[in-house]
Amino acid sequence: MDRVVSRRRLIQASAVGATVLVAGSALLQTAYAAPPSLEKKDTYKVGFSQVEMNNPWRTAQTTSMQDEAKKLGHELVYTDAGGSEAKQISDVDSMIAQRVDLIFLAPRSEKPLAQAVMKAKAAGIPVILLDRDVDHAIAKPGEDFVCFIGSNFVQEGGRAAEWLVNAMKGKATIIELEGTTGASPAIDRQKGFHDYIGGTYASAENSGTPAAAPSGGYPDMKIVASQTGDFARDKGRQVFETLYQANPDANAVFTHNDEMALGAIAALEAAGKVPGKDLIIVSIDGSRDALQAIVDGKLGATVECNPRFGPVAFETLAKYASGEQVPVKIINPDKFYDVQNAAASLPDAY
Ligand code: AHR
Repeated sequence: MDRVVSRRRLIQASAVGATVLVAGSALLQTAYAAPPSLEKKDTYKVGFSQVEMNNPWRTAQTTSMQDEAKKLGHELVYTDAGGSEAKQISDVDSMIAQRVDLIFLAPRSEKPLAQAVMKAKAAGIPVILLDRDVDHAIAKPGEDFVCFIGSNFVQEGGRAAEWLVNAMKGKATIIELEGTTGASPAIDRQKGFHDYIGGTYASAENSGTPAAAPSGGYPDMKIVASQTGDFARDKGRQVFETLYQANPDANAVFTHNDEMALGAIAALEAAGKVPGKDLIIVSIDGSRDALQAIVDGKLGATVECNPRFGPVAFETLAKYASGEQVPVKIINPDKFYDVQNAAASLPDAY
């Protein structure tokens, strides 16, 4: 069962906060076993640190956060790190200096941004992680930050693998385009996909969907190349070109997001190939462009990664301020799109 954190626990934890001597310095620091508390108020000054704005998924997430903040009357201090970890760390520093009440953080990668979480905690500002996680060896949910809200990325990778196994009848030569190195969706989507193919997918830990692959997996599903395309369309296109030249016998592609799938489709068309026929592609996100590519027969399927965080983010903030129990992990439900439902889903797509 997920652990939960509440304000009552915070107050208890603060009362027993231990004073420690940091090795090699005279600095005295108070270490608490719970995130900073949040005073109950009608409206808040809230930070939202966005990692980048280079794709429709990010635009949809930012719009959802801005719309919800406006609807509820909160002041939103918004920053765009432009894909730079250094900039995102300084964005969080700036939010701390502005004394925001709480920070919503969409961290670029797991390790460097875990340090930013610890700085906010030291400054007495609670953090809620949106869509990407940080390294729990450095910053722990329910102790150093309130919670993580986002998708089950391992399950997303498993669902993509299950679809591809069925589409390729268990035999394929696969090129994989990975997301940003060190980012939790890249790490976990890869794990879910590889574990499913390899027959070690932990179905029970991932809501039983997809069902576990047979023991031994699918030995004829071979991943021949795997490299980062940084979740970006242009980079995905360039990297795919190189990997496909080196592996011209590839007949399937798994991309960690739709932008890279669209980059791979562009590269294939430029090479005179027919995406959807010569190579079968499966992806993750569920963007409008991806659904259109399914309708056009170029993309096989995409697992949704729901970007509409505004309502659940601010609802969680309110619960935390009220002292209600907040699970340390809140999973957004994701849909699945293929030729059966892509056209009908286009009007609601982002
Ligand atoms: O963290 C979620 C991922 O980040 C989305 O799949 C991707 O499109 C975005 O940039």
